[in-house]
Amino acid sequence: MKGLILSGGRGTRLRPLTYTSAKQLVPVANKPILFYAIECVRDAGITDIGIIVGDTREEIERACGTGDRWGVQLTYIPQEAPLGLAHAVKTAQPFLGNTPFVMYLGDNLVRDGITPLVRAFERERPNAQILLAHVKNPQDFGVAELEGDRVVALVEKPGQNPAAPDPPRSDLALVGVYMFDAHIFEAVDAIRPSWRNEYEITDAIQYLIQKGYDVRSHIITGWWKDTGKLDDLLEANRLILESIETCIEGDVDSGSRLLGRVVIGKGTRVRRSEIRGPVVIGENCVIEDAYIGPFTSLHHGVRIINSEVEHSIILENSSALNIGSRLEDSLIGKNVLVRREERRPRAYRLMLGDNSEVSVL
Ligand code: TTP
Repeated sequence: MKGLILSGGRGTRLRPLTYTSAKQLVPVANKPILFYAIECVRDAGITDIGIIVGDTREEIERACGTGDRWGVQLTYIPQEAPLGLAHAVKTAQPFLGNTPFVMYLGDNLVRDGITPLVRAFERERPNAQILLAHVKNPQDFGVAELEGDRVVALVEKPGQNPAAPDPPRSDLALVGVYMFDAHIFEAVDAIRPSWRNEYEITDAIQYLIQKGYDVRSHIITGWWKDTGKLDDLLEANRLILESIETCIEGDVDSGSRLLGRVVIGKGTRVRRSEIRGPVVIGENCVIEDAYIGPFTSLHHGVRIINSEVEHSIILENSSALNIGSRLEDSLIGKNVLVRREERRPRAYRLMLGDNSEVSVL
Protein backbone atom coordinates (compact mmCIF):
# COMPACT_ATOMS: atom_id res chain seq x y z
CA MET A 1 0.00 0.00 0.00
CA LYS A 2 0.94 3.63 -0.40
CA GLY A 3 0.32 6.54 1.94
CA LEU A 4 -1.18 9.93 1.12
CA ILE A 5 -0.86 12.62 3.79
CA LEU A 6 -2.79 15.85 3.20
CA SER A 7 -0.81 18.88 4.25
CA GLY A 8 -2.22 21.64 2.06
CA GLY A 9 -5.45 23.45 2.94
CA ARG A 10 -6.22 27.00 4.03
CA GLY A 11 -6.01 26.69 7.81
CA THR A 12 -8.41 29.62 8.26
CA ARG A 13 -9.40 28.43 11.73
CA LEU A 14 -5.86 28.83 13.00
CA ARG A 15 -5.19 32.33 11.77
CA PRO A 16 -3.05 34.34 12.29
CA LEU A 17 -0.52 31.50 12.71
CA THR A 18 -1.39 30.09 9.31
CA TYR A 19 -0.65 33.39 7.52
CA THR A 20 3.02 32.67 7.96
CA SER A 21 3.24 28.97 8.70
CA ALA A 22 1.70 25.60 7.97
CA LYS A 23 -0.73 24.45 10.65
CA GLN A 24 0.58 20.90 10.23
CA LEU A 25 3.97 22.10 11.50
CA VAL A 26 2.64 23.54 14.76
CA PRO A 27 4.41 21.50 17.42
CA VAL A 28 2.45 19.44 19.90
CA ALA A 29 4.70 18.49 22.84
CA ASN A 30 7.44 20.14 20.73
CA LYS A 31 7.01 17.85 17.71
CA PRO A 32 5.19 19.00 14.55
CA ILE A 33 1.76 17.41 14.17
CA LEU A 34 2.72 16.24 10.68
CA PHE A 35 5.57 14.15 12.09
CA TYR A 36 3.09 12.14 14.15
CA ALA A 37 1.14 11.47 10.94
CA ILE A 38 4.24 10.30 9.05
CA GLU A 39 5.21 8.03 11.94
CA CYS A 40 1.72 6.61 12.19
CA VAL A 41 1.69 5.68 8.48
CA ARG A 42 5.27 4.35 8.65
CA ASP A 43 4.42 2.24 11.72
CA ALA A 44 1.71 0.54 9.64
CA GLY A 45 4.51 -0.65 7.32
CA ILE A 46 3.90 1.93 4.56
CA THR A 47 7.09 3.54 3.26
CA ASP A 48 6.04 5.09 -0.05
CA ILE A 49 4.24 8.25 1.07
CA GLY A 50 2.92 11.18 -0.96
CA ILE A 51 2.40 14.50 0.79
CA ILE A 52 -0.14 16.93 -0.65
CA VAL A 53 1.20 20.46 -0.29
CA GLY A 54 -0.17 23.91 -1.00
CA ASP A 55 1.12 27.42 -0.35
CA THR A 56 3.31 26.20 2.51
CA ARG A 57 5.10 23.66 0.33
CA GLU A 58 8.62 24.97 0.92
CA GLU A 59 8.28 25.02 4.67
CA ILE A 60 6.89 21.48 4.73
CA GLU A 61 9.64 20.18 2.47
CA ARG A 62 12.29 21.86 4.59
CA ALA A 63 10.86 20.30 7.75
CA CYS A 64 10.32 16.75 6.42
CA GLY A 65 13.04 16.37 3.77
CA THR A 66 13.30 13.11 1.84
CA GLY A 67 11.79 11.03 4.65
CA ASP A 68 15.15 9.29 5.36
CA ARG A 69 14.98 10.02 9.03
CA TRP A 70 11.82 7.92 9.29
CA GLY A 71 13.01 5.26 6.84
CA VAL A 72 10.34 6.29 4.30
CA GLN A 73 10.34 7.93 0.89
CA LEU A 74 8.36 11.17 0.69
CA THR A 75 7.03 12.53 -2.60
CA TYR A 76 5.66 16.08 -2.52
CA ILE A 77 2.52 16.58 -4.59
CA PRO A 78 1.49 20.24 -5.15
CA GLN A 79 -2.25 20.87 -5.19
CA GLU A 80 -3.15 23.86 -7.37
CA ALA A 81 -5.59 25.19 -4.74
CA PRO A 82 -7.25 23.79 -1.62
CA LEU A 83 -10.35 22.61 -3.44
CA GLY A 84 -11.24 19.82 -1.05
CA LEU A 85 -10.09 16.43 0.18
CA ALA A 86 -11.48 14.63 -2.87
CA HIS A 87 -9.62 17.09 -5.10
CA ALA A 88 -6.43 16.23 -3.24
CA VAL A 89 -7.02 12.54 -4.00
CA LYS A 90 -7.52 13.37 -7.68
CA THR A 91 -4.32 15.43 -7.67
CA ALA A 92 -2.43 12.43 -6.28
CA GLN A 93 -3.74 9.97 -8.89
CA PRO A 94 -0.49 9.89 -10.93
CA PHE A 95 1.45 9.08 -7.74
CA LEU A 96 -1.03 6.49 -6.46
CA GLY A 97 -1.77 4.67 -9.72
CA ASN A 98 -3.73 1.49 -9.00
CA THR A 99 -2.17 0.85 -5.60
CA PRO A 100 -4.56 0.83 -2.64
CA PHE A 101 -3.69 3.59 -0.19
CA VAL A 102 -4.21 5.12 3.21
CA MET A 103 -5.21 8.76 3.19
CA TYR A 104 -4.31 10.58 6.39
CA LEU A 105 -5.19 14.19 7.17
CA GLY A 106 -1.93 15.86 8.18
CA ASP A 107 -3.49 17.79 11.06
CA ASN A 108 -5.01 14.73 12.74
CA LEU A 109 -3.63 12.68 15.60
CA VAL A 110 -4.72 9.08 16.29
CA ARG A 111 -3.27 7.82 19.56
CA ASP A 112 -3.41 4.08 19.01
CA GLY A 113 -2.13 4.21 15.44
CA ILE A 114 -3.69 2.58 12.40
CA THR A 115 -1.70 -0.65 12.02
CA PRO A 116 -4.50 -3.18 12.77
CA LEU A 117 -6.87 -1.23 10.51
CA VAL A 118 -4.41 -1.27 7.61
CA ARG A 119 -3.92 -5.04 8.14
CA ALA A 120 -7.72 -5.57 8.12
CA PHE A 121 -8.05 -3.55 4.91
CA GLU A 122 -5.25 -5.55 3.23
CA ARG A 123 -6.80 -8.82 4.34
CA GLU A 124 -10.43 -8.14 3.49
CA ARG A 125 -9.93 -5.82 0.50
CA PRO A 126 -13.10 -3.77 0.65
CA ASN A 127 -13.19 -0.84 -1.80
CA ALA A 128 -13.03 1.65 1.04
CA GLN A 129 -12.64 1.62 4.77
CA ILE A 130 -13.42 4.58 6.97
CA LEU A 131 -12.69 5.24 10.62
CA LEU A 132 -15.39 6.58 12.91
CA ALA A 133 -15.49 7.89 16.45
CA HIS A 134 -18.34 8.85 18.78
CA VAL A 135 -18.31 12.63 19.30
CA LYS A 136 -20.37 15.16 21.28
CA ASN A 137 -20.68 17.64 18.40
CA PRO A 138 -21.38 15.62 15.24
CA GLN A 139 -22.68 18.73 13.43
CA ASP A 140 -19.04 19.87 13.13
CA PHE A 141 -17.91 16.72 11.27
CA GLY A 142 -18.68 14.38 8.42
CA VAL A 143 -21.20 11.99 10.00
CA ALA A 144 -21.91 8.34 9.13
CA GLU A 145 -25.11 6.35 9.42
CA LEU A 146 -24.57 2.62 9.80
CA GLU A 147 -26.50 -0.60 9.42
CA GLY A 148 -24.31 -3.11 11.25
CA ASP A 149 -20.79 -2.16 10.18
CA ARG A 150 -22.05 -1.24 6.71
CA VAL A 151 -22.11 2.46 5.95
CA VAL A 152 -25.44 3.51 4.44
CA ALA A 153 -24.99 7.27 4.32
CA LEU A 154 -22.45 10.00 4.92
CA VAL A 155 -23.32 13.63 5.49
CA GLU A 156 -20.88 16.53 5.75
CA LYS A 157 -21.64 18.83 8.73
CA PRO A 158 -25.36 17.97 9.09
CA GLY A 159 -27.39 20.85 10.46
CA GLN A 160 -24.87 23.43 9.19
CA ASN A 161 -24.94 22.27 5.60
CA PRO A 162 -27.78 23.82 3.54
CA ALA A 163 -27.95 20.56 1.58
CA ALA A 164 -28.46 18.61 4.84
CA PRO A 165 -30.38 20.93 7.19
CA ASP A 166 -31.64 18.15 9.49
CA PRO A 167 -29.79 17.47 12.74
CA PRO A 168 -27.23 14.64 12.64
CA ARG A 169 -28.78 11.17 12.72
CA SER A 170 -25.80 9.65 14.51
CA ASP A 171 -22.90 10.79 16.69
CA LEU A 172 -20.35 8.92 14.59
CA ALA A 173 -17.84 11.34 13.09
CA LEU A 174 -15.41 10.54 10.31
CA VAL A 175 -11.88 10.38 11.66
CA GLY A 176 -9.28 11.81 9.27
CA VAL A 177 -7.93 8.44 8.11
CA TYR A 178 -9.37 6.60 5.11
CA MET A 179 -8.35 3.58 3.04
CA PHE A 180 -9.25 3.26 -0.61
CA ASP A 181 -8.62 1.16 -3.68
CA ALA A 182 -8.52 2.70 -7.17
CA HIS A 183 -12.35 2.91 -7.41
CA ILE A 184 -12.12 6.15 -5.46
CA PHE A 185 -10.90 7.87 -8.65
CA GLU A 186 -14.16 6.99 -10.41
CA ALA A 187 -15.96 8.63 -7.46
CA VAL A 188 -13.86 11.80 -7.35
CA ASP A 189 -14.37 12.24 -11.09
CA ALA A 190 -18.14 11.91 -10.70
CA ILE A 191 -18.83 14.33 -7.87
CA ARG A 192 -19.54 18.07 -8.10
CA PRO A 193 -18.39 20.80 -5.70
CA SER A 194 -20.47 21.14 -2.53
CA TRP A 195 -22.30 24.10 -0.95
CA ARG A 196 -18.94 25.31 0.40
CA ASN A 197 -17.40 24.89 -3.04
CA GLU A 198 -15.15 21.95 -2.15
CA TYR A 199 -14.86 18.49 -3.63
CA GLU A 200 -15.87 16.58 -0.51
CA ILE A 201 -14.47 13.17 0.30
CA THR A 202 -17.80 12.40 2.00
CA ASP A 203 -19.55 12.88 -1.35
CA ALA A 204 -17.02 10.61 -3.06
CA ILE A 205 -17.56 7.88 -0.45
CA GLN A 206 -21.34 8.37 -0.68
CA TYR A 207 -20.96 7.78 -4.44
CA LEU A 208 -19.16 4.47 -3.73
CA ILE A 209 -21.98 3.44 -1.39
CA GLN A 210 -24.67 4.30 -3.94
CA LYS A 211 -22.87 2.36 -6.67
CA GLY A 212 -22.86 -0.71 -4.43
CA TYR A 213 -19.14 -0.77 -3.69
CA ASP A 214 -18.00 -2.31 -0.44
CA VAL A 215 -17.50 0.51 2.10
CA ARG A 216 -16.66 -0.68 5.60
CA SER A 217 -16.24 1.17 8.85
CA HIS A 218 -14.36 0.77 12.10
CA ILE A 219 -15.23 2.64 15.26
CA ILE A 220 -12.10 3.65 17.12
CA THR A 221 -12.11 3.83 20.88
CA GLY A 222 -8.73 5.43 21.66
CA TRP A 223 -8.55 9.19 21.43
CA TRP A 224 -8.30 11.02 18.15
CA LYS A 225 -7.95 14.75 17.55
CA ASP A 226 -8.43 16.98 14.55
CA THR A 227 -6.11 19.86 15.52
CA GLY A 228 -7.54 22.40 13.07
CA LYS A 229 -8.81 24.73 15.86
CA LEU A 230 -7.17 26.26 18.93
CA ASP A 231 -9.13 24.32 21.56
CA ASP A 232 -8.49 21.00 19.85
CA LEU A 233 -4.81 21.79 19.41
CA LEU A 234 -4.45 22.52 23.13
CA GLU A 235 -6.37 19.35 23.90
CA ALA A 236 -4.04 17.33 21.62
CA ASN A 237 -1.08 18.89 23.43
CA ARG A 238 -2.63 17.83 26.73
CA LEU A 239 -3.22 14.28 25.55
CA ILE A 240 0.31 13.82 24.17
CA LEU A 241 1.90 15.36 27.27
CA GLU A 242 0.02 12.79 29.39
CA SER A 243 2.46 10.17 28.10
CA ILE A 244 5.86 11.90 28.32
CA GLU A 245 8.71 10.69 30.53
CA THR A 246 10.90 12.95 32.64
CA CYS A 247 14.20 13.95 31.02
CA ILE A 248 16.24 16.85 32.40
CA GLU A 249 19.15 17.96 30.19
CA GLY A 250 19.08 21.63 31.15
CA ASP A 251 20.36 23.36 34.27
CA VAL A 252 17.92 23.68 37.19
CA ASP A 253 19.02 25.61 40.32
CA SER A 254 18.31 24.53 43.88
CA GLY A 255 15.76 27.32 44.30
CA SER A 256 13.50 25.69 41.70
CA ARG A 257 11.00 22.87 42.18
CA LEU A 258 10.01 20.33 39.53
CA LEU A 259 6.86 18.29 40.15
CA GLY A 260 5.55 15.43 38.02
CA ARG A 261 6.89 14.58 34.56
CA VAL A 262 8.99 17.34 33.07
CA VAL A 263 11.25 17.47 30.00
CA ILE A 264 13.88 20.20 29.91
CA GLY A 265 16.13 20.49 26.85
CA LYS A 266 19.87 21.20 26.59
CA GLY A 267 21.08 24.70 27.29
CA THR A 268 17.88 25.67 29.14
CA ARG A 269 18.29 27.55 32.43
CA VAL A 270 15.70 27.32 35.20
CA ARG A 271 16.06 29.69 38.17
CA ARG A 272 13.81 30.22 41.23
CA SER A 273 10.85 28.69 39.43
CA GLU A 274 8.20 26.03 39.92
CA ILE A 275 7.37 23.66 37.07
CA ARG A 276 4.41 21.31 37.49
CA GLY A 277 4.31 18.65 34.82
CA PRO A 278 3.46 17.34 32.45
CA VAL A 279 5.50 20.03 30.75
CA VAL A 280 7.93 20.01 27.82
CA ILE A 281 10.53 22.77 27.57
CA GLY A 282 12.84 22.87 24.54
CA GLU A 283 16.51 23.87 24.23
CA ASN A 284 18.11 27.16 25.19
CA CYS A 285 15.10 28.52 27.08
CA VAL A 286 15.27 30.82 30.10
CA ILE A 287 12.77 30.26 32.93
CA GLU A 288 13.28 32.70 35.82
CA ASP A 289 11.05 33.52 38.79
CA ALA A 290 8.31 31.75 36.89
CA TYR A 291 5.57 29.18 37.28
CA ILE A 292 5.05 26.74 34.41
CA GLY A 293 1.85 24.76 34.95
CA PRO A 294 0.58 21.43 33.60
CA PHE A 295 0.04 20.82 29.89
CA THR A 296 2.46 23.46 28.66
CA SER A 297 4.88 23.07 25.73
CA LEU A 298 7.58 25.70 25.34
CA HIS A 299 9.63 25.46 22.16
CA HIS A 300 13.33 26.29 21.75
CA GLY A 301 14.58 29.70 22.82
CA VAL A 302 11.48 30.68 24.83
CA ARG A 303 11.93 33.05 27.80
CA ILE A 304 9.45 33.08 30.68
CA ILE A 305 10.61 35.60 33.25
CA ASN A 306 8.66 36.71 36.29
CA SER A 307 5.50 35.28 34.69
CA GLU A 308 3.18 32.27 34.85
CA VAL A 309 2.07 29.97 32.02
CA GLU A 310 -0.27 26.98 32.04
CA HIS A 311 -2.08 24.80 29.49
CA SER A 312 -0.46 26.59 26.55
CA ILE A 313 1.81 26.17 23.56
CA ILE A 314 4.51 28.78 22.96
CA LEU A 315 6.61 28.57 19.82
CA GLU A 316 10.26 29.35 19.16
CA ASN A 317 12.00 32.38 20.58
CA SER A 318 8.93 33.97 22.15
CA SER A 319 8.99 35.67 25.54
CA ALA A 320 6.64 36.43 28.43
CA LEU A 321 8.29 39.04 30.65
CA ASN A 322 6.98 40.38 33.97
CA ILE A 323 3.37 39.90 32.97
CA GLY A 324 2.20 39.62 36.56
CA SER A 325 -0.73 37.35 35.77
CA ARG A 326 -1.03 33.91 34.24
CA LEU A 327 -1.11 33.03 30.54
CA GLU A 328 -3.57 30.18 30.06
CA ASP A 329 -5.18 28.31 27.14
CA SER A 330 -2.90 30.23 24.79
CA LEU A 331 -1.17 29.50 21.52
CA ILE A 332 1.64 31.95 20.85
CA GLY A 333 3.58 32.00 17.58
CA LYS A 334 7.30 32.51 16.93
CA ASN A 335 9.28 35.57 18.06
CA VAL A 336 6.34 37.03 20.00
CA LEU A 337 6.94 39.33 22.94
CA VAL A 338 4.33 39.65 25.72
CA ARG A 339 5.46 41.91 28.55
CA ARG A 340 4.33 44.26 31.27
CA GLU A 341 5.78 47.76 31.15
CA GLU A 342 5.75 50.31 33.93
CA ARG A 343 6.08 53.38 31.71
CA ARG A 344 3.34 56.05 31.74
CA PRO A 345 0.74 56.48 30.49
CA ARG A 346 -0.24 52.94 31.51
CA ALA A 347 -1.83 51.36 28.49
CA TYR A 348 -2.11 48.22 26.42
CA ARG A 349 0.23 48.64 23.47
CA LEU A 350 -0.45 45.97 20.88
CA MET A 351 0.90 44.96 17.52
CA LEU A 352 -1.21 41.98 16.47
CA GLY A 353 -1.58 40.25 13.12
CA ASP A 354 -4.96 40.05 11.37
CA ASN A 355 -7.46 37.73 13.09
CA SER A 356 -5.50 37.71 16.35
CA GLU A 357 -7.32 37.33 19.65
CA VAL A 358 -6.36 38.87 23.00
CA SER A 359 -8.20 38.53 26.32
CA VAL A 360 -7.10 41.11 28.91
CA LEU A 361 -7.64 41.23 32.67
P1 TTP B 1 -9.33 21.01 6.79
O1 TTP B 1 -8.91 21.28 8.19
O2 TTP B 1 -10.66 20.42 6.61
O3 TTP B 1 -9.28 22.33 5.92
P2 TTP B 1 -8.28 23.55 5.94
O4 TTP B 1 -6.88 23.10 6.18
O5 TTP B 1 -8.51 24.32 4.67
O6 TTP B 1 -8.65 24.40 7.25
P3 TTP B 1 -9.81 25.49 7.55
O7 TTP B 1 -11.10 24.75 7.45
O8 TTP B 1 -9.48 25.94 8.96
O9 TTP B 1 -9.65 26.62 6.57
O10 TTP B 1 -8.26 20.07 6.08
C1 TTP B 1 -7.88 18.83 6.65
C2 TTP B 1 -6.46 18.48 6.22
O11 TTP B 1 -6.40 18.31 4.80
C3 TTP B 1 -5.44 19.55 6.54
O12 TTP B 1 -4.20 18.92 6.88
C4 TTP B 1 -5.29 20.32 5.25
C5 TTP B 1 -5.53 19.26 4.20
N1 TTP B 1 -6.16 19.74 2.95
C6 TTP B 1 -5.50 19.62 1.74
O13 TTP B 1 -4.35 19.14 1.70
N2 TTP B 1 -6.12 20.03 0.60
C7 TTP B 1 -7.38 20.57 0.61
O14 TTP B 1 -7.89 20.93 -0.47
C8 TTP B 1 -8.05 20.70 1.88
C9 TTP B 1 -9.43 21.28 1.95
C10 TTP B 1 -7.41 20.28 3.02
